[in-house]
Amino acid sequence: MAEGFNSRDSEVLLSGPAGSGKTISNLLKVYWVCRKYPGARYLITRKTRESLTESVLVTWERDVLGPSHPILVNRPLQRRTRQNYQFPNGSIVVLGGMDKPDKILSSEWDGIFIPEATDLELVDWETLGGRLRSGKVPYQQIIADCNPTSPFHWLYLRCQPPESRCTLIPTTHKDNPQYWDRVKQDWTPAGVQYVCGRLERMTGARRKRFLEGVWEAATGLVYEGFIARPWDAPLWPEPGPGHMLPTGWRPPANWRRVWGIDWGESAPTVLLMAAVDPQGRLYFYREQYRTRLRPDELGRWAAQELMTGREPPPQAVVCDHDPVMVKEFEKGSREEGRHIHLKQADKRDQHEGITAVQARFDRQLDGKARIFFRPDALEKPDPTLDTKPNCLIAELAAYKYDENSIKDRPDPNCSDHAADAMRYIVMYANKSMSSGGVSPYSGNP
Ligand SMILES: Nc1ncnc2c1ncn2[C@@H]1O[C@H](COP(=O)(O)OP(=O)(O)O)[C@@H](O)[C@H]1O
Ligand SMILES: [Mg+2]
Repeated sequence: MAEGFNSRDSEVLLSGPAGSGKTISNLLKVYWVCRKYPGARYLITRKTRESLTESVLVTWERDVLGPSHPILVNRPLQRRTRQNYQFPNGSIVVLGGMDKPDKILSSEWDGIFIPEATDLELVDWETLGGRLRSGKVPYQQIIADCNPTSPFHWLYLRCQPPESRCTLIPTTHKDNPQYWDRVKQDWTPAGVQYVCGRLERMTGARRKRFLEGVWEAATGLVYEGFIARPWDAPLWPEPGPGHMLPTGWRPPANWRRVWGIDWGESAPTVLLMAAVDPQGRLYFYREQYRTRLRPDELGRWAAQELMTGREPPPQAVVCDHDPVMVKEFEKGSREEGRHIHLKQADKRDQHEGITAVQARFDRQLDGKARIFFRPDALEKPDPTLDTKPNCLIAELAAYKYDENSIKDRPDPNCSDHAADAMRYIVMYANKSMSSGGVSPYSGNP
């Protein structure tokens, strides 16, 4: 890690598992350069400005500057809206997102720090590199960090010979003194809990990447962590190691509900109903999965379920954006006497959504996962589906990565109707239903 701090190469990437101290190491470098070279201009940028606020800026303000630092005390601004941090010696650290590139690209920088650099495209990286100037600091640099992803990722390839345009420095949990005691040559109690506890519970490529720091291709099942085993009935209501609920399971009436819809025309249309417990865990307990299911018909059915009191009103119904389908569904529900408003799902980034769902399959320190399924959620199987998956669980058991793709993406031949609806629900629950005291379940552990 010190190697990263001392390197003067023009591009330096710290690559390693979550919690290995990559971000703090790069931030210390930003701080040190700004202190040493008056008038230095450093940029910290990610895909969006918003994504800096609760990640890297927390570490910056808390662990690098410290709460009583003059930079914070003299201009006490909200972390969310702050544009920069001004040093007494004229150096400045500017914050920006690649979603608003004008401000970033109209200036020149002595250094640029890119946390979670795998989120960027190659063109962003190269454009940023073009904004380095030889100014107040004797060497210009992009410094970056990331968790490993696919070995075909452009950033990883950029670090490979013969060009090796970017210097890759691997980090491990043993670089973080909170987790590894160098003197004793042993894990600290926090290390045992985080590394040996939480991360050890991961499976597949996630485990390779987050725990071992290996750039491993994602192959096999997308939701490899799915254990199609019932939780132990005698333990009820405490979930066991599996992700399956008992048959006939119903959530308590007072848990919040969220529904997700994926529209199909010749493909099936899917409606999933999920309940959210007070700790934020999700339970998929009812579904419609049918071809030739008209949206107005589905809207009528859903309105009936609400009006008869069979279902409590959901906090949201999220679906993919198809204006015709949405209009028809809402019309159908109104005609039945209950207007059900549909909300556009957050589906901008499929990879982010899949990672967020995967994280819910991991068991947490309490031994429980954060996602569960009722085996008999589907009430009326569609006979025309024949050999194709006919419900959410059947999809999960067959939902694989595309082994011919260099990006992490599901095989386009797999049925993903219910899997998509599930992803919309998870994204909604993570963003809008997080419950107090429980950490948000982002994809990054
Ligand atoms: N060398 C270090 N000294 C003090 N704290 C550290 C050190 N390395 C890591 N930490 C702490 O460990 C946590 C995780 O570090 P971070 O830099 O965010 O890891 P990463 O970016 O690899 O996920 C942070 O809270 C950070 O303050
Ligand atoms: Mg980090």
